[in-house]
Amino acid sequence: MRNQKLAEEKLNTYHQESILNYLDQLDDRQKQEMINQILQIDFEQITKLYEDTKKTKKINADQITPIESIDKEKIDPKEKEALQKIGEQIIKKDEYAVVTMAGGQGTRLGFKGPKGTFKLDIGQNGKYIFEILTDHLKKSKKLYNIYPYWYIMTSQENNQQTIDFFEKHNYFGYDKNRVKFFKQGILPMLTQEGKLVIENNKIKTASDGNGGVYEALKKEKMLEDMKSKNVKWVYICGVDNIMVNPIDPIFIGLTIKHHMQIASKSVMKACPEEKVGVFCRRDGKPSIVEYIELSEKMRIECNKMGDLVYGDANIVSHLLTVEAIEKISHKNLKCHLAIKNNLYKFETFIFDGFQYLDDMLVMRIKREEEFAPIKNKEGVDSPETAKEIYEKKFS
Ligand code: UD1
Repeated sequence: MRNQKLAEEKLNTYHQESILNYLDQLDDRQKQEMINQILQIDFEQITKLYEDTKKTKKINADQITPIESIDKEKIDPKEKEALQKIGEQIIKKDEYAVVTMAGGQGTRLGFKGPKGTFKLDIGQNGKYIFEILTDHLKKSKKLYNIYPYWYIMTSQENNQQTIDFFEKHNYFGYDKNRVKFFKQGILPMLTQEGKLVIENNKIKTASDGNGGVYEALKKEKMLEDMKSKNVKWVYICGVDNIMVNPIDPIFIGLTIKHHMQIASKSVMKACPEEKVGVFCRRDGKPSIVEYIELSEKMRIECNKMGDLVYGDANIVSHLLTVEAIEKISHKNLKCHLAIKNNLYKFETFIFDGFQYLDDMLVMRIKREEEFAPIKNKEGVDSPETAKEIYEKKFS
């Protein structure tokens, strides 16, 4: 009763009367569930997010400057060898972990279910995305006799399905004791008038974007777990790049050699219009401007050699120290607005955390070696294009 009163007060204060009216139509169990939901919503935050949607948020071009990258191919072979050794030490000492962000909805792919459970027409029997990612990680077992700790971020929606999938497939031969699943946060969706929405007798929510990874790692006690295991370096990647190379000692070595707390891999943008975020500095701090927010000028600006000034594309391959993650996890990342089915969806981006670190290393790698994202059902960045790139390298 007390909770119901609290929930009703909140709804009244924040002018969400339609939910208030709806509550009365629910049976006891549904009502209780919704009350719990209401009590968990940060209405102040939601109100602010909604107010922000009315402000125009143009990127201030004066704040943006280019960031230099190091081309992996151009590193001197002797130097490479030394870096490799440094990185290998980290892996061998078991100070290395991998986080796969698999909480996205995969709307563009048009596949119902966790994206990692999508099966590609690869090899004789096909291969699931999660299976391919497991294969890449198993490289470490082969080379260094170690299965890196693997943390898989899921969403409230797909968590159980993801766990069941791994169980069913016996973790594709990975050591299941080294795998942990954790759920990312949610935010309510709003109508364009700023009202909460009901769907299936619940308040409609969505994942809070891949920037939610920092807070989720903290909240779900994964950071604690990493620290207890003496993990020092964490490689965070998306679920949808089947060429991802999580076992890359040179990358780790280069980051350490440059005394960085964070590094990220890039590929050269295929064309100015490619839908990728680009690395830059914002007010001198490391940053990425996402493709939806990129100005025309930034998109096409070239240097004297004719190369794009903002040509280092983000492939969601980030390496951070545990301390860096912890530091960012205490910050409030800004929310970006997306409109899905006429509703407002708020998302944080992982790279909006980078500004809290003084500097970062960007290592450019060859696209065909490490980048084959699966985003769309057909055409660019689809299962078909990814398969082609994968088969070129692995068969
Ligand atoms: C992302 C990058 C973009 C990059 C491109 C390369 C971000 C914000 N954008 O764009 O800069 O150039 O990939 O392919 O990183 N995810 C979650 N939870 C969420 C949302 C996403 O785990 O709430 C995961 C997805 O499962 C995916 C990854 O984050 O693995 C990237 O997210 P997605 O929304 O697909 O980003 P893109 O628009 O493709």
